[in-house]
Amino acid sequence: MKDKALLELYNRIVNCRCPCPGERTGAGLVRDRGNLGARIVFLGEAPGGEEIKQGMPFVGQAGRNLDEYLSLAGLGRSDVFITNAIKCRPTQNDGRSNRKPRACEIKHCAHWLDEELALLSPRVIVALGDVALKRLIGGSGRIGNCHGQPFELEKYIVFPMYHPAASIYRRALVEVIQADFKRLGVWLQEILN
Ligand code: URA
Repeated sequence: MKDKALLELYNRIVNCRCPCPGERTGAGLVRDRGNLGARIVFLGEAPGGEEIKQGMPFVGQAGRNLDEYLSLAGLGRSDVFITNAIKCRPTQNDGRSNRKPRACEIKHCAHWLDEELALLSPRVIVALGDVALKRLIGGSGRIGNCHGQPFELEKYIVFPMYHPAASIYRRALVEVIQADFKRLGVWLQEILN
């Protein structure tokens, strides 16, 4: 049932024509095969090239990092559902590289994620990085100021985290992210049991 409704949603996303300036590819082609009944949704930024190629979120280097971090929380991919704030891949240099999603794209993609979350109905949303956090709470969100500190947002509890790719460029963040994921694991036991 959920399965069918999500598939129908992704089929509509494929036909989305974004009015925002900038190049991008592959809207709607990326979807998790994870746990549709999961009470925890991980929210990333936008798919990259590898994600578009494989049609799955977080399968490139950031995904390998995410898998390692998830295990520190006692979680595997089958325990959670993973999705992105932006449904297409924002690109530059004729598709050769990724770029940060723009405010216009975050805004125009917002209703897709709203529909997805309404279908999935999680209790916890783990916001990975500034774009995911901004998408949920607006312009003021900065992961650096609130990572590891959960807060209520409508019917969800949001757990902000650094994006797993952040530690590729800032090695000093590895330990911070590891500690946050361990904390997430303990906290989930308390609130979901
Ligand atoms: N980074 C994201 O935010 N999402 C993905 O799916 C892959 C990398």
